[in-house]
Amino acid sequence: MATTSANKLKLLLLASISVAQVLAYTWPNPAYDYVEEFLWLELTGFAAIPALCGPNAANPNGTTPSIQAQWLRTAYHDMATFNAGVGGIDGSLFFELDRAENVGVGLSNTRNQFIKHISKYTPIPDLIAAGAVVAVGQCGGPSIPFKPGRVMAAAAGPSGVPVPTGSLADHTAAFQRQGFTATEMIGLVACGHTLGGVTPADFPSINTGTVIAPFDDTRTFDNHIATNYISGPNINPLVKGPAVTDSDARIFASDGNVTMNSFASSATTFNSVCASLLSRMINTVPTGVTLRDPVVPIPFKPRDFLLSITPSGTLNLQVTADIFGASVINPSRVVTLHWADRKSTTCASGACSASPTSTTSNAALRNGNTLQSYKFSVTVSATASFSSFWFTVDEAGNGANVVTQNNGGANYPVDDTVVNVPAYSCGLFSGSNIARITTAVRTDGTTQASGVSVEAMFQNQVAMRADLTTVAATLGTSPIVSPVSQYAYYTALIPGDSSLSCQYLNFEFSATFGGVVHAGALLGGACNVRSIHIAAGCSST
Ligand code: HEM
Ligand SMILES: *[C@@H]1O[C@H](CO)[C@@H](O)[C@H](O)[C@H]1NC(C)=O
Ligand SMILES: *[C@@H]1O[C@H](CO)[C@@H](O)[C@H](O)[C@H]1NC(C)=O
Repeated sequence: MATTSANKLKLLLLASISVAQVLAYTWPNPAYDYVEEFLWLELTGFAAIPALCGPNAANPNGTTPSIQAQWLRTAYHDMATFNAGVGGIDGSLFFELDRAENVGVGLSNTRNQFIKHISKYTPIPDLIAAGAVVAVGQCGGPSIPFKPGRVMAAAAGPSGVPVPTGSLADHTAAFQRQGFTATEMIGLVACGHTLGGVTPADFPSINTGTVIAPFDDTRTFDNHIATNYISGPNINPLVKGPAVTDSDARIFASDGNVTMNSFASSATTFNSVCASLLSRMINTVPTGVTLRDPVVPIPFKPRDFLLSITPSGTLNLQVTADIFGASVINPSRVVTLHWADRKSTTCASGACSASPTSTTSNAALRNGNTLQSYKFSVTVSATASFSSFWFTVDEAGNGANVVTQNNGGANYPVDDTVVNVPAYSCGLFSGSNIARITTAVRTDGTTQASGVSVEAMFQNQVAMRADLTTVAATLGTSPIVSPVSQYAYYTALIPGDSSLSCQYLNFEFSATFGGVVHAGALLGGACNVRSIHIAAGCSST
């Protein structure tokens, strides 16, 4: 466990990069973990879309509609109806797609992409905000912090998205209602119109051609929207089009070109102003909605933790250790799992450390990030059990520099009072039940469970929200699993239409002891892309 002073320094330097945010994090934090895995580890494939930010094989002349541009426009259109604490980024746009101010298949395409990613922890308005962050980043723009916590609207809200035929006075008033000054309006429009362009089918009087007419001569997120405007070639269809629809010309010139000149003369200014304005745009939310801290990647973190009873009545701990950042893939690195047993002072199983069962890596995450993952699975008796775990990381694999990863000092805690029973849990159960979730509750403690329940999350793509139902679990037996004297089995049948071939589901189970809720792991359902799956079919009734 020697740590050389040079490496201590290296660790300190690494830690200082985002120390303020990382320090606040302790594992587990299901809401944070879910969003981090979705946004940074790209586990749900949210941004697995072609990055059409410039000419490439799929887009030789840069004229294919850009999904990134569509996502950024979506975020503005959702925010643009904000008025006195009502509206903002709340997903109401997706109930308002039939309005003339929301013309364009780009917005409904985005809706259809986003509804597949709805979850309790990623509601539509957070996906809209995250989509803007991802789009700007994928096209080479500045990094914008993503704070989760938005709330999905139940229905359409007021109208009020600016249209290109609006006067300068209309637009200034609209941006003021949205919370932006006249100068900030110029900035926000330029930051939006650096991506994408005008689609002929949407605005045939502005774009009389057959392919999308781009706003500037690059498809990347850059200051060409300003350099083209100031010194040409000016191809912006909202500048050189019919005067009545030249809204960009009216807006850009409204301060005597001061703002556009500053963008044209400095790419750095453009990027930093855009980072700030776009961040305010996505953080414009209704009064009463509080956004959480930004989700930054944690360089070392456990994922997919699951404690379960095996069919033979032993306790299995599964966990994956993720190492994330630029160039983290290192075949020489040795990562070892260590744990403390239930009593924490002894090693009742005789071997309280283990090597990974498998290692995977991903060298091509967004923003130059990489991921190396070490999966562990260890099994001990229910008597020995677990109270916490931690890891040692030997970067060179030669024992010279072994670093301990222990959740900031306190180890990663294991609560063995509430445990999953995968052998008697399954999705697509029967007729009127969509799943059966069995929980094992520790009975050798001093307090007994007063309530065991399972919260099921159904992805409702029609209402565009996560439907949550809590189902009480009842004490019973668990056929196919050996009785274990330390545990009692509680089973919940989750109502739902099992004839639906695929449902995106999550289950969170918990038990209450003496008024304290003990939470189990987040389980992913049959069609969920998270790696903790519930078996699709039940092996016995
Ligand atoms: C007065 C304000 C604005 C007006 C009148 C306006 C107007 C337009 C129009 C007419 C289009 C073409 C849409 C289509 O063909 O489907 C467009 C596209 C776009 N707008 Fe705006 N816009 C405004 C502000 C903004 C702002 C503030 C942003 C974001 C910060 C933004 C982002 C975009 C993007 C990214 C596109 C390209 C979409 C694509 O290529 O699919 N716009 N805008
Ligand atoms: C791309 O541009 C070239 C040259 O202007 C043209 O010959 C070609 O047809 C264009 N391809 C597409 C897909 O528009
Ligand atoms: C602003 O820039 C545009 C485009 O270059 C130009 O046509 C216009 O005359 C300028 N306006 C002012 C007030 O400088």
